[in-house]
Formats: sequence, C-alpha cells, structure tokens
Amino acid sequence: MTAAHAPGKVILFGEHAVVYGRPAIAVPVQQVSATAQVTSLPNSGGDVWIEAPDVGFASWLSGAPPGQPIARMVRLVLEALDVPSPPALRLRVTSTIPIASGLGSGAAVSVAVGRALSQHLGRPLPPDQLSALAYEVERIHHGTPSGIDNTVITFETPIYFVRGEPPIVLRPARPFHLVIADTGEPSPTRLAVEGVRRMWEAEKERVEQIFDGIARIVESARGALERGEPWLLGPLMKENQALLESLALSTDRIRRLAEAAEAAGAGGAKLSGAGRGGNVIALVEPASAPGVIDALKRAGAVRTILAEVKP
Ligand code: PMV
Repeated sequence: MTAAHAPGKVILFGEHAVVYGRPAIAVPVQQVSATAQVTSLPNSGGDVWIEAPDVGFASWLSGAPPGQPIARMVRLVLEALDVPSPPALRLRVTSTIPIASGLGSGAAVSVAVGRALSQHLGRPLPPDQLSALAYEVERIHHGTPSGIDNTVITFETPIYFVRGEPPIVLRPARPFHLVIADTGEPSPTRLAVEGVRRMWEAEKERVEQIFDGIARIVESARGALERGEPWLLGPLMKENQALLESLALSTDRIRRLAEAAEAAGAGGAKLSGAGRGGNVIALVEPASAPGVIDALKRAGAVRTILAEVKP
C-alpha cells in the first residue's frame, strides 16, 4: 500500500486579482489534509477502483464520467507516465479539508492522488509536473484558475505567485499565526470568479485600478514577511478586505467574523479565497489567539483552525 498526503492552503493576499496577472501570496495549512491510498488488486482485471467516501463517490475508473475530478487526475497521471492500460488498483481518497471554502480541497485531493499513484507505480512525479496535472483538474471547477492552489499545495511552502511564471518561494523571516474561521457559507469558486469577470467587463478601468491596489498590498506584504515584520500584515489585510468588498465578494457573515476577530485583538482580518462565503483569516499573536477564536465562534464561525506559518 502506498499513501500520500497534501495539505490545505489559504491565500493571504491577492485572490481574484491573481486571475488577472497580479501577484498573490498563499501559504500551506498543514492542520488539514487530503490523503490518497493506493493498493494493488492482484486478482482483478485492469481497472482502478476509486472510492472517496467524503464526497459519496465510488466507481471503477472505466465507468467514471470524464469530468469526475479524481478520475480525471488518475487518467492524467497514467497518461503522463505512459501507462497504456489502467493497472489493477484500489484508490481510496479521504480529506479533512472542508469543500468549497477556499482551503484548496480540490487541488489537495488531486495532488495527493498524483503523489500516491505515481509513487505506487515506482515513478514519483516531480513537483512541477504534479502541479501541472493538478492544474488541469482545477480547470474542471472553473475555466480560468490562476494555478495558485495547485502550486502552493504541491510545494508545501509559502509562495509569491504570478500566473504563468515559476512560483517564488517566500521565506518569512519570523513565523506568525493565523486563525482561519469558516463562515459556513459554501462558495463555489467558479461563481465568484464569474461575478468578478462580469464586473470587470462592465467597468474595466475601475476594476483594473482595484487590482493594481491589491498588487501593491501584495508587494508590501512580501516585504514585511521577508524582513520579519509580520505585524505589518494586519493593516494590509484590512486594506485588502476593503478592496475585496468593492468587488462585491464580501457577505454579512464575512464582515461579522472579521469585525469580531479585530475587536478581540486580531491585527487584521479578511476573506480568503473566492469570497462570497468560505473562510475568513485573522492575524493573531499566540497570546491573543484563544480570545480571537472564542469571539469568532460567538460571531457564528462553524469551525476555526489555528495555523502557524513558517518558512
Ligand atoms: O480556491 P479558492 O476558493 O481559494 O479561490 C481561488 C482564488 C481565486 O483567485 C479567486 C481564483 C484563482 O483561480 O486564483
């Protein structure tokens, strides 16, 4: 049996603008993960039995619809490894990453599957190839993903990312802590991305200026991280949140959680990922974290994760 894992992720700064060529910063979240287990099935014909109990999916590869994301990843991996007919395998996929909440569950499942399958077949895929295959699967979810999710999840390190360019590994000179709070409002990325696209088409100049503002925040955040001044991220989060508000990506619940976190001592808070629900992230000190978590729960967060971001 071969098992492999992939972490969740959050986007710290730059979501949405990253689809339009601006930079973004994302970090892995090791507290949640996807797991893929591959076992050989010696007595069956050449097919892969796929089971993913968390999403209620179970099927032979041969019978899975072409757009099923796990089956798509399996096919892409077999193709990349030049395996002409599917080997007799059982693939079990589980995940503790909440779905459609901006934590990268889809990309993490793809990366875990690609890792486990290629390792089991004795030819582990190098990270850039694994990330590229996971990107192909991301395209099922929405047509124009920036590629930030599959990249940060494959490399498992903080990254500064520009679409179409090799990712730059960020080394925060000082670790820092985030509380990630789930609004409980699921938000499919595709719909949020389409909403921004419509706004961009209708008011290109205004929306481009917002993207430029977000890009400046990302540059400031990169500098703060590299200089070891993570406390500067708080005000930058507030600024980024205001710009995401003006892209109509916030909701009452997001605002309520961000305000509650800040009132309880967080340095700043913002939505993370697609918005219109999903997760809020808040910058905390270890000492203020319990109070912030408590305030977020009282304000309606359905789940919180305390994550440490390290180089
Ligand atoms: O997958 P999520 O929910 O973290 O959102 C992805 C971030 C976007 O910038 C909105 C889309 C993209 O492809 O980068």
